[in-house]
Amino acid sequence: MEVKMGIEILGICLVLIIYLCWRVFFRPFNLFRDFGDLGFESVSKTGNDIYKRNAINEMRKRRKNGKLPPSYPNGWFAILESESLKAGETKEIYALGQNLVAWRGRRSGVTYVADAYCPHLGAHLGVGGEVKGDCIQCPFHGWEFDGEKEGKLTRIPYAEKVPGFAQIKLWPVTETNGFIFVWFHSEGSGPSWNLDPIPEIVEGKWSYRGRSEMRVACHIQISRDIRIWNRKCFLDKPILIREEQTIKLFRRWFSQFYYENSNSDNGRTNYFKKG
Ligand code: FES
Repeated sequence: MEVKMGIEILGICLVLIIYLCWRVFFRPFNLFRDFGDLGFESVSKTGNDIYKRNAINEMRKRRKNGKLPPSYPNGWFAILESESLKAGETKEIYALGQNLVAWRGRRSGVTYVADAYCPHLGAHLGVGGEVKGDCIQCPFHGWEFDGEKEGKLTRIPYAEKVPGFAQIKLWPVTETNGFIFVWFHSEGSGPSWNLDPIPEIVEGKWSYRGRSEMRVACHIQISRDIRIWNRKCFLDKPILIREEQTIKLFRRWFSQFYYENSNSDNGRTNYFKKG
């Protein structure tokens, strides 16, 4: 009896060890840090979620932001890992201040990203929407929009004809290096450059091992010094010494990714102009 129990325990331990090894060494490891994990330590120690959220929001309201540059520069943005969207699946996406829906065609395997709200009566296509061929079908009244035909409405289940002008707005999408990217441009212009596949990834020499994702209460920036970035304010005209001229050069270089119509959280800025 005891021997049998011992074998069972050993078996369970073995399964657990195999699972852990598979999880650690063969699956991507994604690390997420939400507001409150960094830079708001005085709040996060309380352990009460509602209190924490309110306290952090209060701190964010009190914070002096400065004259922030626009939130979203023009360019490609990764919104999903490729493997997280299988053929026939849809995903609700909130990115770049937009509600979007992503789906992968059952027939073609191509990924499409569109504005989330159905032009019929406003249902969210990413919540309960179904993929039919390369179309996304609205969960409310079943209207179908075809990704392959620029998001045009192609079928209404209870009508013989469809209005030719009806369509959802598709976003430019590219899929490379294991990620799905959408193109954002403040004035609606198409992609002006492409993302290059990384040969080591394409040839399978490198594999995806995970990522570190942090939510920060600041303009898009590098992830170092998150504590500081979560609480600092943006200075339009900072005092810079000779050794720090690269900051000025970087700001000037980065301004090429903004246009006059780039959205800003506190009104349009005039110091990030094209050219
Ligand atoms: S709201 Fe989408 S079909 Fe009616």
